[in-house]
Formats: sequence, structure tokens, C-alpha cells
Amino acid sequence: MTSDEHRRAAAIEARRTDRLPFGAPPRWGQFRETLTELLDDYGAHAALLSQDTRNDLAEASRLTAARRRYDSLYRAELHWWTGHAPHADGVPATLLAAPAEATRVPVGRAFGVGGIATETTPQPTMDESALLVLGTDGDDRLDCLRGGEALSAVLLEATMAGYATCPLTHLTELPASRAVVARLAADGRVPQVVIRVGVAQAPDRPRTARRDVSEVFVVRHPGDGAP
Ligand SMILES: Cc1cc2nc3c(=O)[nH]c(=O)nc-3n(C[C@H](O)[C@H](O)[C@H](O)COP(=O)(O)O)c2cc1C
Repeated sequence: MTSDEHRRAAAIEARRTDRLPFGAPPRWGQFRETLTELLDDYGAHAALLSQDTRNDLAEASRLTAARRRYDSLYRAELHWWTGHAPHADGVPATLLAAPAEATRVPVGRAFGVGGIATETTPQPTMDESALLVLGTDGDDRLDCLRGGEALSAVLLEATMAGYATCPLTHLTELPASRAVVARLAADGRVPQVVIRVGVAQAPDRPRTARRDVSEVFVVRHPGDGAP
């Protein structure tokens, strides 16, 4: 393991997905340089969306939600992994943005349920995060693997830099909105995920519960016999 990988491993405990609006990230130029070097190792690329693309991205987000309003399979899957009580499986309702907060993040996924509201006067009024589009050269299995590795590295590097993050994949799950993201990123790559990066309004929020590693990871040795 390299020393960078050691530092990123240490950030795992601190990283969490934050779905509230963010303030604009300070020291952004310095972080972009770090990211460019980092992503070279993963065969992935990050395009920074300009401020004037925000409305188009929000429109793509609304388009996705509208297309899925009557998609019962999607709704069933969303219900399966979100909106639960804390400490159960999946993302608890308390970690999804309450409707008033969600409207301040127009590019966010529409979860339909949610509980986090900031207790104090909202600052900023609207989300001011930097929007990164993580893209790959192609879209085959290896590109998806590389994209996932790069996503992990970017989220951890941002955590180490003191930023809050939220990955957004509803924007790249349907061809229509993915095409919008590709047009806005304008870098000729295949967009895999949009990442919001900024300053948290309510830092130190609780984490989504984890299953015990033994429930999801089994080590078998040669000669152990069939499972
Ligand atoms: C590939 C991937 C896609 C994700 N897409 C979204 C998304 O579209 N919207 C969202 O709010 N969170 C998204 N997340 C965040 C997950 O919901 C989050 O990782 C999960 O709730 C666990 O919480 P934690 O990140 O705080 O540990 C995504 C995470 C991953 C790894």
C-alpha cells in the first residue's frame, strides 16, 4: 500500500454522504490540481461544471424524476434501500433531506421521503457546491470498475481536504439525462457519476449503519470444500 492509500484508508471513517445544501468549497484550485494527479492513476477524468450549467443540470434531474414517477420497479427499489429507521439496513430517513432542504439542492435525487432539516437559518439558501462529472473513456465493465475506484478515491481525497460530498447517479442512470450531463461536461468522456463537493452546513452527521463485514465478505481457502 502506498502512503497516499494509507491516508485515504484513514479517511474512510470520516467520510459520509451529505444530502444537504453545501457552501462553495474554499481553496478549490489547489484541490483540482490534486484531483488531476490522482485521477491519472485510475484512467478517469473529472470535469468541473461551470455555474451557468446548474439550471440545465437541475432540469435533467427533474426530467429523471418525472420519467420515474410511475416506474413501479424503480420506486420499489428506492423504497427497499431508503427511508428506513436508523440502525436498520439501508439509508435511514433521518439521513435524507427533508422536502424544504431538498428543494435547495435542485440537482439531488428525489427520494420522496426524508428527515434532515437544518435547525438554524439555512446558509447558504441554495446549494453552492462545486459539481464534478467523473467520466471514463468508454463504458464497458473495466471502465465501470475504474469509475468506481476513482469515485472512492475522489470522495476520500475530498474528505481529507475538509469538504463534504454527495455522489449523484440518478443523473447518469437514464440515457436522456446522461446525454445532458455529457453535453454539459463537454470533455468527450462517458459520464459515470456527478459529485457535489462543498462545505457542510451541519458537519458530523451520523453515518449510515454498516452490516458486519462477515455478512458480506467470505474468505475461502483452497480445500475448504464447496459452500
Ligand atoms: C455508486 C454510488 C452511487 C450513489 N448515488 C447516490 C445518489 O444518486 N444520490 C444520493 O443521495 N446518494 C448516492 N450515493 C450515496 C449512497 O447512498 C451512500 O453511499 C450510502 O447511503 C451510504 O452512506 P455513506 O456514504 O454516508 O456511508 C451513491 C453511492 C455510490 C457508491
